[in-house]
Amino acid sequence: MPERISQVTAFLAEVLAPRAPLTVIVDGGDHGAAAQFAARLAAAFPPSARAWNVDAVLGLSGSSGGVSDSALNVLEPAADRVIVYLRANGRGPAGEGERRAQVVIDHQNPQWPVIRRMHPRLADPERWHLPESQAFFAPKAAGWDERFGDDLPAYAEAVAAARLEPGDVALDVGCGTGRALEALASAVGPAGHVIGLDCTADMLHEARAKGRDKSAGLVQADARRLPLPAAAAHAVFAAGLLHHLPDHAAGLAELARVTRPGGRLVLFHPTGRAALAARHGRELSPDEPLHEPNLRPALTAAGWTLSTYDDAEDRFLAVAVRKP
Ligand SMILES: C[S@@+](CC[C@H](N)C(=O)[O-])C[C@H]1O[C@@H](n2cnc3c(N)ncnc32)[C@H](O)[C@@H]1O
Repeated sequence: MPERISQVTAFLAEVLAPRAPLTVIVDGGDHGAAAQFAARLAAAFPPSARAWNVDAVLGLSGSSGGVSDSALNVLEPAADRVIVYLRANGRGPAGEGERRAQVVIDHQNPQWPVIRRMHPRLADPERWHLPESQAFFAPKAAGWDERFGDDLPAYAEAVAAARLEPGDVALDVGCGTGRALEALASAVGPAGHVIGLDCTADMLHEARAKGRDKSAGLVQADARRLPLPAAAAHAVFAAGLLHHLPDHAAGLAELARVTRPGGRLVLFHPTGRAALAARHGRELSPDEPLHEPNLRPALTAAGWTLSTYDDAEDRFLAVAVRKP
């Protein structure tokens, strides 16, 4: 299996090469990382693309903050320009660099870069979202609960907002290691059903290792294409999922499809948006999908009515009701 950086640079080259002549700017990262990544990316372009001057790569702001890290010379002005931003923790708020980039790469571990965002004009998310999401979460699965396990009471409290009844069907979409599953199972009782769905096999493996498959059926599935009939569920619980989906509107519509009229959607995170952004070294951006002015109309368009919105320091909770 090729090393991860080769997978990422090969895919970027495949997507970008047909756009030549092109200037690719690699920005962000720590300690010369932009130059190194730029060199690897340039090497991944096919020789025919190089003839078109595709390998003009320049790091905009390395750890020194100024214009630096020029890996290759810009040979001549190119018709198009794409900015690739390397997201690394520990170098202050990354808001502006990320916002102007068409490609954002998680670069906390330079040996394990992961594409986190790509402008749909460059590549259909169908081509990268699932494998890159799995690559992002798989290494985090072991030890996930040890990092965040204290949050279980907050999950149980959030599950209560789903107002489940005994005998109901509840889904936990993007269930991860299944931290909400026991609370969901106790809400629906022995006559009910809980299904935990996640795209990352390692997360479901951890859930099983913790015995959470006793509370729920566990299914590896894409939240954007759930293997369930319409109106199958009385409630959908989704913790920390929505902002990981490339198309939030489509994601909310798929969750609506599988929920009965009057059923509830609980969007939860055990940390408020501001505290979470600070933890990741980011500034809160007004275009985030969970920001109320964005979330409310997106829910409405997808067939939901927002009934609760609470973005406190220590939790994010939004509850929506499926329209008839
Ligand atoms: C931040 S984690 C939250 C996990 C869990 N809900 C929790 O609160 O501990 C996000 C989860 O969403 C999953 N995920 C990301 N994209 C997905 C997709 N398209 N379909 C299904 N699951 C996805 C990831 O594998 C990961 O387990």
